[in-house]
Amino acid sequence: MKKILIDCDPGHDDALALMVALAHPEELELLGVTTIGGNQTLSRVTENAKNILYFLAADVPLAAGEEGPLVKSLKTAPEAHGESGMEGPYFEGTDYPLSQATGVEFLYQTIKQTDDKVTLVALGPLTNIALLLKGHPEVTESIEEIVLMGGGLSHGNQTALAEFNIYVDPEAAEIVFQSGLPIVMAGLDVTEKAEITVAEIEQLAGRGRVSRLAYELLSFYNESGRQFGFIDSPLHDLCTIAYLLKPEIFSGVQADIHVITDESPARGLTYGDFRRAAVGPKPVLVLQEVMREEFVALLLTALTRLDAEEANQ
Ligand code: RIB
Ligand code: CA
Repeated sequence: MKKILIDCDPGHDDALALMVALAHPEELELLGVTTIGGNQTLSRVTENAKNILYFLAADVPLAAGEEGPLVKSLKTAPEAHGESGMEGPYFEGTDYPLSQATGVEFLYQTIKQTDDKVTLVALGPLTNIALLLKGHPEVTESIEEIVLMGGGLSHGNQTALAEFNIYVDPEAAEIVFQSGLPIVMAGLDVTEKAEITVAEIEQLAGRGRVSRLAYELLSFYNESGRQFGFIDSPLHDLCTIAYLLKPEIFSGVQADIHVITDESPARGLTYGDFRRAAVGPKPVLVLQEVMREEFVALLLTALTRLDAEEANQ
C-alpha cells in the first residue's frame, strides 16, 4: 500500500490518472488532491477536479494550490484542453467540498500527520511542490519519492525543447529535480509512447458510466491532438499512476536532471549528464520505454472496476 498525494491541473489526462488511482484503493491510498494553474486557470482546473471527484463519488480532500508559476505569469493551454480545461463531458454541477487550506499548506499538514512516508504524484507545473520543499525543508524526510509527469530528454511539446509542465515553471522544476529526493520522471520520451488508439477509445462508448466519461474526455482529447500531429492519444499523466501500480511495464535510466531557466529558446529544457565520466548522484529515474498494450489494459481494467462500483451503488 502506497500513501499518495496527487497535485494536478485537470486536464484530460490528469482526470484519467485520478480515475485509475481511485480504482486501486488496495494499492494506492489517495490522501488528497491539490490543484495548480497549468492547463487552465486555477479556478477552472479546481472546478474540473471537483467534477471528477464528485462524479466518482470520491471521499478525498481537495485543496487549491498556486494560481501560477514562481517567477513568470501563467500561460494556459486552451488549444489542447479547451476553454474549460477539460472540454468534452458535461457535468451537472458539483458541491464537492474544497479545503480552506492552501494547496501547499494542505500538502505539508497531510504529510506531517501521516505516519508512513508519502509519495507525491505531480501532474502539472511543479510550483506547489517547489514551495512545499522550500518552505518546509524538513518534509523531505517524510517523502518516499516524487513521481512526476514532465520534461523529456529528446524533445519538447510546448517548444521544440521544453515540455509544457516544465516550461510553465522551470524555476520550480529545477528546485524539485535538485531536491535530492528520489524522483521518477515520466517525460515525453515515454509518455508519447503511452498512447491509446482511436479504436481503443471508440470501444469505451458502449461500456458503463465511468467508461462513458472516459470516452467523452478522450474523444475531445484525441481530436485536439490532431493539430499537434497525433493520430492516437498520448496519456501523459496516467504514466505516473501506471508506474506506481505496474513499474515492471516501464524502463528507463538514472540521471541527475537540471532545467534551463534562462531566457533562451532552451527555457524549460530538461537535461542530464550521460558522459561516461559523469560523477555525482543520479536521483532521477527517467522513464524511456513502456509496454503499451499492458499500459492501456491497466486503464481499461480500472474503468471496468469503476463501472462496476457505479452499477452497484
Ligand atoms: O505535456 C503534457 C502535460 O501538460 C500533461 O500533464 C498535460 O495534462 C499538461 O498538463
Ligand atoms: Ca497535467
